[in-house]
Amino acid sequence: MSVDLRTRYLGLELRSPIVASSSPLTGSDATAALIEDAGVGAIVLPSLFEEEILREEIELNASLEAGSEQFAEALAYFPTIDALAGVGERYLESLALIKERASIPVIGSLNATTTGGWIRYARLMQDAGADALEVNLYRVAGDPNRTAAEMEEADLALVAAVADSISIPLAVKLSPFYTAFAGFAGRLAAQGADGLVLFNRFYQPDLDLETFDVVARVDLSIPAELRLPMRWIGILRPQLPATVSLAATSGVHAGTDVVKALMVGADVAMMTSAILRHGPGHVRVVEDELRLWMEEHEYESVTQLRGSANRETVADPSAFERANYMQTLHSWVAPRDAAVS
Ligand SMILES: Cc1cc2nc3c(=O)[nH]c(=O)nc-3n(C[C@H](O)[C@H](O)[C@H](O)COP(=O)(O)O)c2cc1C
Repeated sequence: MSVDLRTRYLGLELRSPIVASSSPLTGSDATAALIEDAGVGAIVLPSLFEEEILREEIELNASLEAGSEQFAEALAYFPTIDALAGVGERYLESLALIKERASIPVIGSLNATTTGGWIRYARLMQDAGADALEVNLYRVAGDPNRTAAEMEEADLALVAAVADSISIPLAVKLSPFYTAFAGFAGRLAAQGADGLVLFNRFYQPDLDLETFDVVARVDLSIPAELRLPMRWIGILRPQLPATVSLAATSGVHAGTDVVKALMVGADVAMMTSAILRHGPGHVRVVEDELRLWMEEHEYESVTQLRGSANRETVADPSAFERANYMQTLHSWVAPRDAAVS
């Protein structure tokens, strides 16, 4: 039996539900091509960060101002200014190149800081050929004077503004740290989000005890991290309009992880850590595992598999929600050698 892996995501027809999520690997045309060859259904480019563009512009202005006072030094500096196409421009050029070479959908990713920045770069990515856009809402609610409602209103307004300014589909990548997540997800859909990507991993800073510096640490994920997106996709799928796509990201490492994501109702399962750890060829391994599982369990297509175990279809709907908390805690069995005194 040959299984049909086709799926729809953000209104796009994908050959496979395995998608390469945003990471440095998808940003170069060479590695993007390897990932495509390994069989992904689509690729999401690394995020273009507005801060990077702003920082570069500030540095450039500072250099030019210094240069106007010291003409000879400024002349010496000019060739490097020419060579410096600018972070934004370089991003758009590589997006256009990857799109030109790819035969699968290419999704741009944006993380801006100002409303003007979001709209400007969303349009530029559309013009550069992106098939869809993923906006990455990555915020830390660290201001004691700002309420959840205020922050959510700001995010909703932003999504509405971006959705209004482009004609390609729009996905919103979120952290799980919203006060009432299902309500917020529903409102995002009402503001024009064509899809939700659940969840961005929050990278927690660490301390270097020698230098006393706060250091950035990116740890690759482990498969257990898939449980959070699984729960929320399972809860949301039957309650959101069918036209809103759902993508699972975090902890997808093997074919069985893709099966789980699809079963709770995801349209695609995204991978980064596993590709970073094992290389682009890992996509082929995961696809083979997915096919094998589907064959053994007599599923003919992703369409048939999708949503077969969400809040609406599982025998115990509370399994995804609060009631299961008690059972989960009661299910703990102490290891035989655990200390009891
Ligand atoms: C090195 C690295 C860089 C990443 N860069 C981005 C990024 O630019 N934008 C973004 O939205 N997500 C980014 N991510 C997050 C991934 O797209 C993905 O959502 C996350 O790693 C969880 O999936 P995984 O468990 O398959 O790794 C990055 C992840 C890693 C490990």
